[in-house]
Amino acid sequence: MAHKKVDKRILCIGAGYVGGPTMAAIALHCPEYEVTVVDINAARIAAWQSDELPIYEPGLLDVVKKVRDKNLFFSTEIENNIKNADIIFVSVNTPTKTFGEGAGKAADLQYWEKTAREILRASEHDKIVVEKSTLPVRTAKAMDRILNDNNKGIHFEVLSNPEFLAEGTAVADLEHPDRVLIGSHESETGLAARKKLVDIFAHWIPRERIVTSNVWSAELSKLVANAFLAQRISSINSISALCEKTEANISEVAHAIGMDGRIGSKFLNASVGFGGSCFKKDILNLVYIAENYGLHEVAQYWESVIKINEYQERRFVQQMIKVMFNTVAGKKIALFGFAFKKDTGDTRESPAIFVAKKLIEEKGMVIVSDPKAIPNAKNDLLEFGENIVYEPDPYKAAQGAHAIAILTEWDMYKTLDYKRIYDSMETPAFIFDGRNILDHDRLFEIGFSVFRIGRPSLTHF
Ligand code: UDX
Ligand code: UDX
Repeated sequence: MAHKKVDKRILCIGAGYVGGPTMAAIALHCPEYEVTVVDINAARIAAWQSDELPIYEPGLLDVVKKVRDKNLFFSTEIENNIKNADIIFVSVNTPTKTFGEGAGKAADLQYWEKTAREILRASEHDKIVVEKSTLPVRTAKAMDRILNDNNKGIHFEVLSNPEFLAEGTAVADLEHPDRVLIGSHESETGLAARKKLVDIFAHWIPRERIVTSNVWSAELSKLVANAFLAQRISSINSISALCEKTEANISEVAHAIGMDGRIGSKFLNASVGFGGSCFKKDILNLVYIAENYGLHEVAQYWESVIKINEYQERRFVQQMIKVMFNTVAGKKIALFGFAFKKDTGDTRESPAIFVAKKLIEEKGMVIVSDPKAIPNAKNDLLEFGENIVYEPDPYKAAQGAHAIAILTEWDMYKTLDYKRIYDSMETPAFIFDGRNILDHDRLFEIGFSVFRIGRPSLTHF
């Protein structure tokens, strides 16, 4: 029986941080489309169907509730949904390879390739396949080969539509993106598919913000956008080390340079280091691609962004140990924040993981506090079992501690009663503000010795 083509059935494979919120936004703004999200992880799908979504993202539950079971559906039934779909977004994860050729750098494309083969197997009519996952440049070519080398008489048009949303602000980023990028082949079928995708986003995004390009430019732009953002953080973090040695103040330097319209003020907050699932992975990907083409200087240039990040994390813990009289053995240290940034429970590549592990190696007694990330933190630190205490309440976490380290810039940490906290701690009491969010003069007045990023310390000894 010939399939009735309606062009309005969207499927997303991969119900993660990207797939879930993005499809909710499309369903909300495009009521005439039916959007289904599938995943091999049944628990994740069940969570999407409940009021306890699998990811914490401010405002997301409201959006999901408006459209769920109307034109947004979550399912574990992959094959039939592929069969029915007209447009398939692929948003499965593409972690850094941990084995074999390119281990530690190249992207592990096994899930992605498996998904391409599943699409081919289940399909009975032409489809548009959209890469949403961040992939090495020219992956679309491989996807093309796998899909279109078929004897079913089916044509698959592969597009690249990288997602630029940031966690913690995903709903707002999807609602008002700086731009949406759609890459397609410049053939007749490619341009027709490009138009269909543009029409979807044009439901709520001004046309001038929908940028189109060839597939390779779209794939590369995603890697380069993340590499540039991360590079700004490593640049300012490298200068923070210099500030700590001089009388310069990193916030004043960032403010002064950021006022230059050519530089801009965003992404200039010095910190304990950047984390998140994308920056390191995407830069490694860029490095691997450059190396593959024999562009060693290019590879080294971008690799240095990661090296500075590792240096910054290392520097932070080394300073903690040094100023606490060269030993943290047996000392209670409360980590305020474990997520890689505020307003998310995600801890992937969080600098807090590195800090916690180093302190434990030095036999410190680590107490992890975070309003949203404790379940993920427990998973990250599984190997240490009972040696770590998890306590969401920061007042309780700091009781009897020698030191506090601020590792995530949660707003709640700015307004705590630090006098009360100080009174419950061991003295001398230390605060290491890895996010430069606290009122350091006030903390010093209370009695804390204060260490911060990119400014001289305030110490009582
Ligand atoms: C996304 C992109 O896919 C990644 O390439 C980009 O760099 C970061 O954002 P994210 O949504 O954060 O990843 O990943 P994750 O939350 O791990 O979600 C991926 C989902 O795909 C998981 O729920 C996983 O179960 C699912 N999956 C994976 C499948 O459904 N099928 C598979 O074969 C593999
Ligand atoms: C990033 C990109 O911003 C987004 O466009 C892309 O789609 C995915 O990767 P995300 O990783 O969610 O988003 O968060 P982002 O806000 O970029 O922060 C990344 C890391 O950099 C965090 O650890 C954050 O704390 C740190 N950061 C950010 C700084 O240390 N200083 C800054 O000035 C900004």
